[in-house]
Amino acid sequence: MLIPIILSGGAGTRLWPVSREAHPKPFMRIGGGKSLLEQTHERALAVSDGTTPLIVTNRDYYFLSRDELANQQVKPQYLLEPMGRNTAPAIALAAMWAMEQKNDATMLVLPADHLIKDTPSFYTAVRHAEALANDNFMVLFGIKPKAPETGFGYIEMGDAVSQHARVVKRFVEKPDAATAAKYLATGNYVWNSGMFCFKASAILDAFATYHPALLEAAQGVWKTIKAEGDKIELNAGFSSLENISIDYAVMEKAKNIAVIPGDFDWSDIGAWSAVADAIQADESGNTSNNCQNIIIDSRNTHIEAKDRLVAAVGLDNLLIIDTPDALLVADKSRSQDVKQVVSRLKASG
Ligand code: GDD
Ligand code: MG
Repeated sequence: MLIPIILSGGAGTRLWPVSREAHPKPFMRIGGGKSLLEQTHERALAVSDGTTPLIVTNRDYYFLSRDELANQQVKPQYLLEPMGRNTAPAIALAAMWAMEQKNDATMLVLPADHLIKDTPSFYTAVRHAEALANDNFMVLFGIKPKAPETGFGYIEMGDAVSQHARVVKRFVEKPDAATAAKYLATGNYVWNSGMFCFKASAILDAFATYHPALLEAAQGVWKTIKAEGDKIELNAGFSSLENISIDYAVMEKAKNIAVIPGDFDWSDIGAWSAVADAIQADESGNTSNNCQNIIIDSRNTHIEAKDRLVAAVGLDNLLIIDTPDALLVADKSRSQDVKQVVSRLKASG
């Protein structure tokens, strides 16, 4: 039984002013249509034959998430965090829930903010991952790198473990630009997509080996949960758990991990440049979320506006993101630096 675990935590600060604490990245609709969360939930149901997914999210997003998924045939369960503690505590607690569903459950961990266009190839990769997870491997989904990105974890691939997967020789979380370029040149590295497949017992064993303090603390928190209807609430004790990602806590150290070098069309929509890449461009490379926007003599410019018409004349490589109370105008090549705006806003209270 494949149990989908959907991680729906972070706010996505590089996508300001659309993604904010009150309306984080999983609720964004790239190019209109369904939100990233709804698309992720649909992929989860498709690949698990309708097994109820667990969504791990902040308690503030409970009602928003329920509204978003109101039309889904199978409704998820919610594990509600009082605050963000990164992915390691979220996955450890999700594994405890999965074990209660079924002793030898296999978990498919899916971040709620990914865009996957080529779903059949993704589903095939999941089938291969599930088979390996049932052989007690912890499986990472790799993505063939397209550029020396510094916002991803890199996985060095070793020998084949099956027809479809390689041994993980090394895992390097977010290398600097020079190192990333070196990795890209070797052809032996893939990006870590942040999606995983493992038995609940295997990940709990890995926590016991590589981060026993966190496991013990999380077990203490699990004893105090409050379950009612479709939600499980974690109490204040959750705040004492270490804020650490699954990559640093376990994946960088674990031995029995395999990677499937995925060849599906994947984006983690990390920044506005990735949003633009995901939308059909006009012949000059311009993109817009709204066909009413007017773009004249411009190139490679992305416009996002919901509440009013935006007109652009003679622009080159710009981002214009309009919301009712904030407007972003930026050089597209500086997409990664939009997070500095959020830092500045937070600093100024
Ligand atoms: N429930 C919950 N609680 N979810 C969380 C929390 C939390 O406290 N923190 C993060 N998440 C969710 C995010 O919403 C996202 O869907 C996913 O977990 C990954 O977290 P990010 O904060 O976006 O991680 P990252 O982008 O810096 O790096 C990870 O993803 C990359 C690919 O997108 C790493 O796994 C990298 O190695 C990887 O390349
Ligand atoms: Mg991310």
